[in-house]
Amino acid sequence: MMDLFKTLSSFSEEQTMQYAYTFGQSLPLNSIVCFYGDLGAGKTTFIKGLVAGATNYMPTEVNSPTFVYMNIYEGQKTIYHFDLYRLPHADEFLGMGFEDLLYANGICCIEWAERIQALIPPHAISVEIQHKGENRRNIVIKSGKPA
Ligand SMILES: Nc1ncnc2c1ncn2[C@@H]1O[C@H](COP(=O)(O)OP(=O)(O)OP(=O)(O)O)[C@@H](O)[C@H]1O
Ligand SMILES: [Mg+2]
Repeated sequence: MMDLFKTLSSFSEEQTMQYAYTFGQSLPLNSIVCFYGDLGAGKTTFIKGLVAGATNYMPTEVNSPTFVYMNIYEGQKTIYHFDLYRLPHADEFLGMGFEDLLYANGICCIEWAERIQALIPPHAISVEIQHKGENRRNIVIKSGKPA
């Protein structure tokens, strides 16, 4: 993918999913998308739209894998959806064999990617969601992992 740097302004959950759907449609295989932002920022909401844009899944079939760390949505573009909020340490990620999935010819979406920052390859894309008000969010999409 080319160099990305854009900020989107969202005024509703639906608008975030709409942006994410378009983003998901154009996302090539082997993309790693890292999500940053506070609890309730809208990371899972964005991934619902992204998965719907990239696969045949419905947004309602996409839910946060907080307790199991990862969900798989299979398709022509298989998506590995990680939520690492409860991951105690990056070693646990390695211990579960997850690192291979970063290079598995699918698309990885990683919530709380800061938990495994050192393992994120440089070709990753970051999506930072900033809470600006009850229904207002800024979504900053950049190529590369944050420093
Ligand atoms: N513009 C918006 N975009 C996204 N979500 C919004 C927006 N406005 C309000 N919301 C609400 O914010 C919440 C976002 O929750 P979501 O589970 O997506 O956050 P999250 O970043 O994944 O949190 P967590 O860190 O707990 O996984 C939802 O309740 C959603 O309805
Ligand atoms: Mg979430």
